[in-house]
Order: sequence, then C-alpha cells, then structure tokens
Amino acid sequence: MLCEDRLTGAEAGAAAPAGALFRDVTADDAALLRHATLAAMNWRTETFSDADLDRPDFAHYFTGYDPSRDGGLVAVDGEGPVGVAWVRFLPADDPGYGFVSEDVPELTMAVEPRGRGRGIGTALLTRLLAAGRSAGWPGVSLSVEDGNTGARILYERVGFRTVGRNGDSDTMLTRL
Ligand SMILES: CC(C)(COP(=O)(O)OP(=O)(O)OC[C@H]1O[C@@H](n2cnc3c(N)ncnc32)[C@H](O)[C@@H]1OP(=O)(O)O)[C@@H](O)C(=O)NCCC(=O)NCCS
Repeated sequence: MLCEDRLTGAEAGAAAPAGALFRDVTADDAALLRHATLAAMNWRTETFSDADLDRPDFAHYFTGYDPSRDGGLVAVDGEGPVGVAWVRFLPADDPGYGFVSEDVPELTMAVEPRGRGRGIGTALLTRLLAAGRSAGWPGVSLSVEDGNTGARILYERVGFRTVGRNGDSDTMLTRL
C-alpha cells in the first residue's frame, strides 16, 4: 500500500531537478495516466493512437488505479504535470507485458518532451522505488522495447536487470 501521507512530508514538495515538485498519483489522474501510457508506447514514433488505448491489454495500465494498493508520483512544473511514474498490480489472468508475478507491480513512466534529460525521470523513479520499499513491495517489474536505450540506461542505473523476454521487449525486474 502506498499511502498519500507516506509520500507527502519529506518527499512531496521536495525540489526535483529542473524545479519540478512531486505529488502522489490519485484516482483522479486517469486522463494523465492514459496520456503517459500513450507516450510510453510511442517512445519512438507515433505508432499508436489514443483509440488504441481502449484495448484491454493497454487500458489496464491506466484504468482502475487504486491508491490504496498501486503507487505513483507526478512531477509538476510551472506548466503542469511534466512526468509521471506509477505501478499497477495486475492479476495473472490479465498480465501486463512486463508481468513477473501478482505480488510484483509493473511500472509505466513517461516524461514530457519539454522535461526530458533533466533528471526528472531519475528523480521520479528513485522516489517511487523508495516508497515501494517502504510499502513492502518485493520488487517492481517493467517491459522495455528493443531500441529504447535511453529508458534502459535509466532502468539499469536504478537497479533493474533483465529477467525475461516478451516479443520484442525485455522484462526487467528490480528487487526491493
Ligand atoms: C525514458 C524517460 C522516462 C527518461 O526520463 P528523463 O527525465 O529524460 O530521464 P533523466 O533526465 O533522469 O535521464 C536519466 C538517464 O537516462 C538516460 N537517458 C534518458 N533519456 C535518454 C535518451 N533519450 N537518450 C539517451 N539516454 C537517455 C541518460 O543516461 C540519463 O542520464 P544522464 O542525463 O546522466 O546522461 C523519458 O525519456 C521518456 O519519457 N521517454 C519516452 C517514454 C518512454 O520511453 N517511457 C519508457 C517506456 S519503457
């Protein structure tokens, strides 16, 4: 469980790189998570449209976010949300592309183009992993497509290692 009060206090309001501030993802952030899911899927080109997100294998990343179980952080700058990293616990009969086990939530993240390369992704991820450790998550998994070298460098830097393969993507896991 990742409670709001666990991420407020020392974390929320803490200055992030590029002057961004952090807040928790809430159940009201479905549109933001949808937008970020599309950005993560379209990391290379505009391959997917917003309508594609209604596919169940994509929609479960941003539909039904439960703050009492899932966890996530939004970085906000003067223009609004500039990045978000969140996890969802998905069941074995409706797994994400980076599914490892039901007790290991799966990460999705994206930073707006205006904020990239300024440490916001690193800040989001390190804080989310620290919160997950406090919440007792055994680990966090993710799926990263071949060629997404920038994301992979970030993931390896914070401790993710490749543990599997799914189509043209690696499944990565960090144990907490
Ligand atoms: C991946 C992503 C979240 C990184 O966020 P960010 O705020 O730019 O990351 P940071 O500024 O903290 O950079 C962390 C490190 O990742 C690497 N990195 C990030 N983006 C990179 C890129 N486009 N090319 C090469 N390296 C990159 C760098 O090594 C960087 O460290 P450095 O600045 O010391 O060189 C962001 O680029 C993004 O939203 N990409 C599109 C969506 C996406 O790919 N999501 C993940 C899908 S699996």
